[in-house]
Amino acid sequence: MATDALFSWFEKVQGTIPWGDVLDAGTGDHSLGWLHTLSTRSLTGVTVEAWRENSLRRIAPEARLVQGQWTDPALLWGQQFDVVVVDYVIGAIDGHAPYFQYEFLRRLRPHVRARLYLAGMTPPPRDGGLLDEICRLRDACILLAGHRCYREYPRELVISWLEAADFSVLDSSEHPNVLGARFVNGQLDVAKRKLPLFKDPVLAASMATHIEALRATALARGPQTWGSDYVIAATARD
Ligand SMILES: C[S@@+](CC[C@H](N)C(=O)[O-])C[C@H]1O[C@@H](n2cnc3c(N)ncnc32)[C@H](O)[C@@H]1O
Repeated sequence: MATDALFSWFEKVQGTIPWGDVLDAGTGDHSLGWLHTLSTRSLTGVTVEAWRENSLRRIAPEARLVQGQWTDPALLWGQQFDVVVVDYVIGAIDGHAPYFQYEFLRRLRPHVRARLYLAGMTPPPRDGGLLDEICRLRDACILLAGHRCYREYPRELVISWLEAADFSVLDSSEHPNVLGARFVNGQLDVAKRKLPLFKDPVLAASMATHIEALRATALARGPQTWGSDYVIAATARD
């Protein structure tokens, strides 16, 4: 689903309700860039990654950026927000706080005064196709570098976590992805950046050749419909 389409979906669900104090619970250039265009009373973004800061400051100079870890009970202690945005965070948590994805929405609940908007990716189809191969290669390189992979979850499961965490789901929607050069290059560049961390330089060199061969094949084939993204709107239960 195109980034703009999912943000438009959130805006449509919000309608004329004022945005008020907004928290971007896993901030990045896309979500903060969108929130910067809305008329909010305040804008706060949380990330565990220090490297994001310079770019985020440029994108939304008015935002309060908090670098912290959601497993830390002191993070935003006692603070509430009218709207909390969870934009592609669930799948990223395993890389930063393994297993905490199962607690994350419960952790957020005390911070949500009214609404929570969530965007996520369904687990990639294991269909043996070219895009599947690219994702598996990316994950293999992440693991050989000693890092942890993203782990995506289906919409129904995330909805059940929301309900268990005292949210009521208002609406949700799933959209097939059309993936082209941006996706192919993005995933293979992640794989390539991991190569210097391999223990075996010979394996790294042969992996580099494989990455570029797969890139050439995938780019020649052009955009393909593969996998899907979803959006969920929920309210905090009284
Ligand atoms: C894939 S990025 C989200 C994309 C982002 N919304 C955008 O517009 O590009 C995941 C975000 O969640 C944050 N995150 C993931 N796990 C976290 C954790 N345990 N504590 C705090 N932040 C976390 C990452 O640091 C990052 O800012």
